[in-house]
Amino acid sequence: MNHLIAPSVLSADFRYLARDLEMINNSKADWFHVDVMDGRFVPNISFGMFIIDFIKRVATKPLDVHLMMVEPEKYIEEFRKAGADIITVHFEACPHLHRTIQQIKQSGAKAGVALNPHTPVEMLTDIIKDLDLVLIMSVNPGFGGQSFIPNTINKIKRCKSMIIEKGSSALIEVDGGVGPNNIAEIVKAGADVLVAGNAVFKTEDPTATILELKNLEHKTLTV
Ligand code: DX5
Ligand code: ZN
Repeated sequence: MNHLIAPSVLSADFRYLARDLEMINNSKADWFHVDVMDGRFVPNISFGMFIIDFIKRVATKPLDVHLMMVEPEKYIEEFRKAGADIITVHFEACPHLHRTIQQIKQSGAKAGVALNPHTPVEMLTDIIKDLDLVLIMSVNPGFGGQSFIPNTINKIKRCKSMIIEKGSSALIEVDGGVGPNNIAEIVKAGADVLVAGNAVFKTEDPTATILELKNLEHKTLTV
């Protein structure tokens, strides 16, 4: 499978949100990555279902909703109603993770689990077959524009082995500090979906950058 690119809406210019969303629609991007932060699980507050509902009205590609919040189980149905196609909760925020995953699936969304940099991928051994997505955080969640933590490469490789060994169909998504300089290595390690915030929106031509991120792996392989 060719890797997917999910630009992070968090890094968009919210004065021109519709323009930036249309840019993603018209680019080679595959998903919209949408970061929800509650100021409790992470030290930042972003937006919730009210904004997601507006994003959904413009977006022509799936909404990949990353819930960086405590007690996400209280709001799964509301996020689904607002337009989430994939709902990812944090391992560290869910004492009854199995139940929360079932709840996401019952809502009709695909189910993902995110891991903070300190959480070993092996914590998902007994639930990996139930997941559609594993989101490996390559920065500490809360802010865009941080540097990629190198140990993530090792985690991606271990996660890929676990998925194969357990016969899971989960995709591996990597989030934080991803850009043209490291994407080839990340894909080579086993990642399927790459989130990119600043690497896309802080460039002169975001559409061209998305294309570059989409093609980079092939370029590197043919060199
Ligand atoms: C970080 C968020 C990321 C963020 C990525 O807590 O989960 O999705 O938007 O931004 P960059 O690509 O700039 O690190
Ligand atoms: Zn995210």
